[in-house]
Amino acid sequence: MIIMAIESSCDETAVSLVENGRHVLTDCIASQVELHRLYGGVVPEIASRKHMEAIFPLAEEALKRAGITREQIDGVAVTYAPGLIGALLVGVNFAKGVAQALGVPLIPVHHIRGHIAANYIACPELEPPFLCLVVSGGHTLLVDVRDYTEFRILGTTRDDAAGECFDKVARVMGMPYPGGAALDKMAHDGDDTKYALPVGHVTGSELDMSFSGLKTATLNTIHNAQQRGETLDVASLCASFSRAVSRTLVPRTIGALERTGYQKLAIAGGVAANSRIRADFESEIERMGAQLFLPPLNLCGDNGAMIGAQGYYEYLAGRRADQTLNAFATMPIGDLKY
Ligand code: KG4
Ligand code: ZN
Repeated sequence: MIIMAIESSCDETAVSLVENGRHVLTDCIASQVELHRLYGGVVPEIASRKHMEAIFPLAEEALKRAGITREQIDGVAVTYAPGLIGALLVGVNFAKGVAQALGVPLIPVHHIRGHIAANYIACPELEPPFLCLVVSGGHTLLVDVRDYTEFRILGTTRDDAAGECFDKVARVMGMPYPGGAALDKMAHDGDDTKYALPVGHVTGSELDMSFSGLKTATLNTIHNAQQRGETLDVASLCASFSRAVSRTLVPRTIGALERTGYQKLAIAGGVAANSRIRADFESEIERMGAQLFLPPLNLCGDNGAMIGAQGYYEYLAGRRADQTLNAFATMPIGDLKY
């Protein structure tokens, strides 16, 4: 079954063609990052307009690159929640048009479910149940993936998402938006013990996380150095910050893994590209003798392939939308509304 998958929840327009949920025929992405960089963050109105301009040519290109015709498409999967509402609506309306014109099923896909499914593409042997840590720009979630379409949240952040925190700290250090990847690179040359930064704890909830204290402490370190006219060791601050984020994520994830009794951990979302976090999980999971699934960097950030992968399993579970499909800015991962 060939699914055309459409993603437009934030600042990447993506159209992918995925066969049977695991085999990517093509994954075309038009990134708007350079444009939003001028403003230091995503401007929703600009994002919607750029999706409008990009989506049709991108779909044509996807077919061309995959060497298939429109008639070979068996279904259309689309991200319909959560995300920027105007941006989501572009993808949803385009998907409705394609599904109607071709007379094929329209499959609504939750963006975070898609991030988790990126692991099915990267690791053909991975099947639920497993634990997944989702770390993106807007979400930090410990998810019990009981089945392809059955999820239970075991822990989450009480304040900022990990990616949001990376981007804010990077911005104050003068790195261009989104600064997570630049901060990661900079951290390689630093001493991760130079700056003592706090690891947030949420009392009474062992699997929940907090990043706002770490964010404030890091920003205070930068501002204090500026006020005193001291030179900041930027690389070491990046390394110390990355270490503190990792020390928040790793123990809680291991705690959740132990609680579920699973031997399989997957990581997903843009922040899963972070080299420090990847390395720390690799050594910890190896020590435990469990299995770690890490998508390659191109499948960590937003892409269409992950929507095609999850779309296939949603289809098998009988999920279909009609021409009344709407988009939603927020939606819990377990919700079936559309
Ligand atoms: O999953 P994603 O592409 O979009 C959302 O659904 O939010 O995640 C984007 C986030 C941004 O905050 C970005 O700075 C962060 O992922 N990110 C990183 C790295 N690469 C991307 N954060 C830390 N280290 C990285 N290497
Ligand atoms: Zn995302």
